[in-house]
Amino acid sequence: MQKQINIAIDFGINEQAVLYHGSCIDLLKKIPDKSIQLIVTSPPYNIGKEYEKKTKLSRYIEQQSQVIKECERVLSESGSICWQVGNFVDNGSIIPLDVLLYPLFIDLNLVMRNRIIWHFEHGLHCSRRFSGRYETIMWFTRKTKKYVFNLDPVRVPQKYPAKKYFKGPKAGQYSCNPLGKNPGDLWIVPNVKSNHVEKTEHPCQYPVELIERLVLSMTNEGDWVFDPFLGTGTSIIAAIMHNRRGAGAETEKKYVELAKNHILKTIDGTLKTRPMNKPVYDPKENGNKLITPPWQDAEENKATQLMLFEQRGKYCENS
Ligand SMILES: C[S@@+](CC[C@H](N)C(=O)[O-])C[C@H]1O[C@@H](n2cnc3c(N)ncnc32)[C@H](O)[C@@H]1O
Repeated sequence: MQKQINIAIDFGINEQAVLYHGSCIDLLKKIPDKSIQLIVTSPPYNIGKEYEKKTKLSRYIEQQSQVIKECERVLSESGSICWQVGNFVDNGSIIPLDVLLYPLFIDLNLVMRNRIIWHFEHGLHCSRRFSGRYETIMWFTRKTKKYVFNLDPVRVPQKYPAKKYFKGPKAGQYSCNPLGKNPGDLWIVPNVKSNHVEKTEHPCQYPVELIERLVLSMTNEGDWVFDPFLGTGTSIIAAIMHNRRGAGAETEKKYVELAKNHILKTIDGTLKTRPMNKPVYDPKENGNKLITPPWQDAEENKATQLMLFEQRGKYCENS
């Protein structure tokens, strides 16, 4: 459905979508205290991606600290901060960024409500450690019981919806909430890799459905969602899809252009996204022929196995 939304290039409290080309610190300075309901982001991980300069870990933490401090300032009384991170990798050593960044939030008197594990299936194949297949979302609020948490819009189907109480005063009645169950803190959501419908040239997009769940549970219609490290605009897209306001900063011009294009498509209802709660593709269920190992075919057996062994070097590259 088409919406009437203008994309502003600078923050204004009455805007509905703000796409700022520049540093998040500069944009944050323009945002009033306690005006944002949800701050959600995936910051650079300091691993030398094309949009970042790898720096000393202490310097990286200091930079993150400056942004997080400003985010806390603009956070509303009932608001949430969700910081989505993976690992910093140094010479084969894994350093979980959430462990390093957690104290920064606690020092600002924030409370962690969940450390959500985001599990996905695709990524680099490691040869000297187990391949990394999860990242985390740290969710913080202020020290208040009045933080917004709307569970009903994000409930997921029950495993046994027909289950009934078998004893007590409710015996014989259905025991499940008909709206579904709490999705828990382990989220299985495909990451945005080559054949994902949302894939762009950006190397590190997070999926829209991941952010939709946060937007729906932690904000109400008309609230502001802010992403300091916007990338392709995913957070604004999730916000607009659910009638929230979205703002974000991005330093790279080509990603600002990409984000603008995607936000415009969201506004006119033509952006293709992977629907929230769509089951993860199961190759077996879908009769995908690639799940049959070629070496089970007697004729090809030897040649194929030999070829795979010869290629092993290739699979070990990304350690
Ligand atoms: C991990 S990516 C975020 C991707 C985003 N979640 C998405 O779905 O497209 C981090 C982004 O932050 C941008 N960036 C880096 N430093 C920044 C800064 N100081 N202010 C704003 N954006 C910045 C990078 O160019 C990069 O696109």
